[in-house]
Amino acid sequence: MSLEPTRLIWFNIDQVESLAVYLMMALPLALLAYGLTLRVQRWRQGLPENRDDHWLSRILYALRFMLPYRRIARCPDLYTAITYGLIYFGFMTLLAGTLIVMVQNNISQPVLGVYFFKGHFYLYFKAAMNAAGLCLGLGVVMALYRRLVMQPGSVQTSMDDVLILIMLGLLVLQGFALQALRLALTRDAWALWSFVSYPLSLALQVLPRQTVSVLHHTVWWTHFATAMIFLGYIAYKKRSD
Ligand code: HEM
Repeated sequence: MSLEPTRLIWFNIDQVESLAVYLMMALPLALLAYGLTLRVQRWRQGLPENRDDHWLSRILYALRFMLPYRRIARCPDLYTAITYGLIYFGFMTLLAGTLIVMVQNNISQPVLGVYFFKGHFYLYFKAAMNAAGLCLGLGVVMALYRRLVMQPGSVQTSMDDVLILIMLGLLVLQGFALQALRLALTRDAWALWSFVSYPLSLALQVLPRQTVSVLHHTVWWTHFATAMIFLGYIAYKKRSD
């Protein structure tokens, strides 16, 4: 067991499998590129307009547009605003976490020889990711409850909306299960920082190690496949919105 807090990024996944992961990511990326191409084609149907000036203010405007406060302010009630905020904060934090792991694994370590995914940074990272997963999960449950049970007249719910929320909820459950299975195998001294998955990891320790390892491997691939289907589905479905 390592003495300094960290985790193996490709824990329980061999080199051939990690290579396959990069290849499989090509499919949702291709769908995203296809969706963007369709959208650009639609924009081009309009009359030409000069949008090449004022680059800086245009970029700042786009960044401002990505921040949630306008949408939250436009929410019809507090329940909706909290739901939106939880999903936005949870998803964006998890996305930032994924980018940090990617930078560590694909740039910092191989190019610069720097390993920063450890120590205090790693502990705060784990706690932040657990909090983000919790927020996202809660937001998804609140959104499903609003759409399926409260059913306010102002909201039209399509199968698409429900499917996207279910996939997000599934990803959160899989993520925590995956972490709990890993912790049941590694039994890290700092596991408590993963405060959501830690109690589950204690319960899983009663199972034989081999079983936990097989379960971890299976959930890893299911989590990855769900994420790819989710991203591909969003990229393709939202192409014409
Ligand atoms: C929309 C996409 C995704 C969502 C919402 C999501 C959500 C989560 C959540 C909530 C957790 C537990 C909290 C934590 O990270 O500490 C987690 C863990 C994990 N996720 Fe994801 N995930 C997504 C995509 C992915 C992808 C694409 C991969 C693999 C390439 C991945 C691999 C993992 C791994 C390995 C863990 C366990 C980390 C550990 O053992 O500490 N996730 N995910």
